[in-house]
Amino acid sequence: MDDLRISPEVEAPRPEIPAIAVEVRQGRASDRDAIATFLERAYRRRAKYKGAARWEWQFVSNPFSHQPTGLVPVWIALDGDQVVGQIAVQEAILQVGDETLDAGWILDVMILPSHRGMGIGHRLYEAVAADAPVLVTLTMADATRRMAERLSAVTLDHVHQLTRWVRLDSQTIRRYLMVRTATHPRARVAVRLGCDVGQLHRLLPLVVNPVLWARDRVRPSPGVSDSTRIAEVTRFGHNMDELWERTRRDYPVIFPRDARFLNWRFVDSPQPRYRCFVAEREGRTVGYVVLRHAESVELPEGHIVDLYAARDDRQTIEDLVAHSISFFGSDVAALDAAASMAEFETVLRRHGFVRTRTHRPTCVCQDDGLRRRIADLSGGWFFSKGDHDWDQIHDVEALAEEPD
Ligand SMILES: CC(C)(COP(=O)(O)OP(=O)(O)OC[C@H]1O[C@@H](n2cnc3c(N)ncnc32)[C@H](O)[C@@H]1OP(=O)(O)O)[C@@H](O)C(=O)NCCC(=O)NCCS
Repeated sequence: MDDLRISPEVEAPRPEIPAIAVEVRQGRASDRDAIATFLERAYRRRAKYKGAARWEWQFVSNPFSHQPTGLVPVWIALDGDQVVGQIAVQEAILQVGDETLDAGWILDVMILPSHRGMGIGHRLYEAVAADAPVLVTLTMADATRRMAERLSAVTLDHVHQLTRWVRLDSQTIRRYLMVRTATHPRARVAVRLGCDVGQLHRLLPLVVNPVLWARDRVRPSPGVSDSTRIAEVTRFGHNMDELWERTRRDYPVIFPRDARFLNWRFVDSPQPRYRCFVAEREGRTVGYVVLRHAESVELPEGHIVDLYAARDDRQTIEDLVAHSISFFGSDVAALDAAASMAEFETVLRRHGFVRTRTHRPTCVCQDDGLRRRIADLSGGWFFSKGDHDWDQIHDVEALAEEPD
């Protein structure tokens, strides 16, 4: 099933906007409590997924942080002493050709409803871009894209989200339709009618599941080849640095996949919980895959969060995808993955994945020369769901009730 990012497209028009003096600046460590209060007010039921442990991991103990002491990579809008909006940056390093640059992911773009439509979003984005040399956003609402475009963002090549349907059930279909239509009142009414009167959610599995059953009989997913050994690890070791050094030049633009990144991103993150698998062939590490079972508040999906190997090592990519399919088995309604490079997408499609969504990431750069290089390399970026904070817990009940 595709990602549940909700776009804020049905806001009521604002008849009159009162003049409010709002200060925009970078957050300080001492703003922490005010930001926590803002997150509670802004995200309501979803605030627990942005709690203290995750905030500390993402913005304070991030090993790629390049903030001076006392500052945090969160830009805030203040009305008096109250935080009324923010844009956060998950700091990172980015490989562009032979160079490694300080960069950041734009995330948690949020303004309190009382302060929307006053240009605070633009002001926050401008303040972030003045301080950060390279800012990347992978999935975003229309409003965030407009803010980036005003700052001459480069729009990068497509990133495809891919789904492999496994087994559908009526409850999952209903929950999925409700959350997808949360910001579309008319579509929401149609879904309610379709399900309550037409029993659409019960009919769909009756039609689709036999087709999926036939697919698995006619084209069963080939298992992992005999020559590849895939083992679960609790922490990534130095063998990942060797793999990264051997393969990094395959990828013109990539957020480096070395052991330091992998351990911070997938082992030390307070939530969600990831399962990490490393592939070896003839005594050499050849790739890895990071998988995640959805939490009980999410749709029952299996996520292929990050899958990596040498770009031309088709065998390893095939084996890691086959391993993922067998790991999730038939316990899930669908498997979800994302790929920006044809070498990965081709294998996923061969294993029954279909494109369900297309994303166009953006990149805002301070330096004109770098912007031109990024534009030239716009089709050479490696992205997966492990980038940005794309893979996060999507609480479907909370999203269906409170989409923004
Ligand atoms: C999206 C959000 C941050 C915009 O903040 P804001 O302070 O109201 O934005 P601004 O007034 O600075 O306007 C920024 C741009 O977004 C556009 N915009 C604002 N709300 C929009 C909406 N609901 N749909 C589409 N575009 C929108 C504005 O028109 C403006 O573009 P323009 O200058 O080219 O016309 C705010 O509406 C919000 O917090 N929404 C809920 C959370 C959310 O959706 N976050 C984005 C996740 S990626």
